[in-house]
Amino acid sequence: MFRQLKKEPGRGMRIMDFNIALIPGDGIGPEIVREAKKVLDKVCEKYGHKFAYSEILLGGASIDVHGVPLTEEAIAAAKASDAVLMGSIGGDAKTSPWYKLEPSRRPEAGLLGIRKALNLFANLRPAYLYNELKAACPLREDIIGDGFDMIIVRELTGGLYFGERKTVEENGIRKAVDTLVYTEEEIRRIAVKAFDIAMKRSKKVCSVDKANVLDSSRLWRSVVEQVAKDYPEVTLEHMLVDNCAMQLVRDPKQFDVILTENMFGDILSDEASMVTGSIGMLSSASLNETSFGLYEPSHGSAPDIAGQNKANPIATILSAAMMLRYSLDLDQEADAVEAAVQKVLTEGYRTGDIMSDGCKLVGTAEMGDLIAAAI
Ligand code: IPM
Ligand code: MG
Repeated sequence: MFRQLKKEPGRGMRIMDFNIALIPGDGIGPEIVREAKKVLDKVCEKYGHKFAYSEILLGGASIDVHGVPLTEEAIAAAKASDAVLMGSIGGDAKTSPWYKLEPSRRPEAGLLGIRKALNLFANLRPAYLYNELKAACPLREDIIGDGFDMIIVRELTGGLYFGERKTVEENGIRKAVDTLVYTEEEIRRIAVKAFDIAMKRSKKVCSVDKANVLDSSRLWRSVVEQVAKDYPEVTLEHMLVDNCAMQLVRDPKQFDVILTENMFGDILSDEASMVTGSIGMLSSASLNETSFGLYEPSHGSAPDIAGQNKANPIATILSAAMMLRYSLDLDQEADAVEAAVQKVLTEGYRTGDIMSDGCKLVGTAEMGDLIAAAI
């Protein structure tokens, strides 16, 4: 890893060198990462930084070359970088040969493996309604109101995803078991992240669980309450996950920071992104205890439109902006990328997924060009 900090006399601008690992992945992954890199190149040009890139194979792309979705080499390369920017992984489960492999060798196992190997326990998934994209929001005007802006803080390396699992046959009857396990340390560290984030926003945390049924949720609730004592300015509310699923469509404005465990967060974050009507716009960050992180769009690999220059690269470009902000500490540059996205939307450019009457339809590469040019 190399990192230099130089001060340019007179301008007060920090010129930085970073190592960025790119994971193009599968489906639309390579084309959306290409556009995000275009935007990062423009950031480097404008602000004088130097990013050195390395490419990592993950998911199906790794299976095709190495027979497994994640290699030790890939983990080492990710660890040697300052941050990782990912496209998407996975293919069509009905037609892709990757899904004939046993579950632990399929593309998704690679993603889960790298999250665990890099200890990326904090998954931040903002769900934001762009004013320009109100037409794409499936909710009624009176529910949308002034729009909404929430962030789901999802625990990412514990719970059902990583508990013991097995499928056995007993007396000719097949039985499958998945285990939902959390230690108080795992709950505490994600709760601390959520409260820290809340302190920078409107100081509200809604912790989501199923404490009326699950022991793991009762522990979750008690640890979150302990953590809350260190943040007297933050208002904490607890909500049952079934109620939260309902409230997200009934009144999404009520939410700011939603803190929840891995599986609930997986489900609720898809719901929250659908509510914004523009899943192609939503970024995400997966962080560990340090400033290191893996950044990826909230959407999947969309194999049906892969390679057709139709995918919306904005979620990946905004994930690159999150990377600038959280891992590289380049706030001004992150602001510039977000402003460029906003400008291009205001000018009426749209990819197919967010197209509406009177707007200008562009492809993946054109959208990347426009955003890079707006920086
Ligand atoms: C996500 C995805 C993954 C998850 C899959 C691909 C394993 O749905 O990032 O939300 O369930 O975490
Ligand atoms: Mg998901």
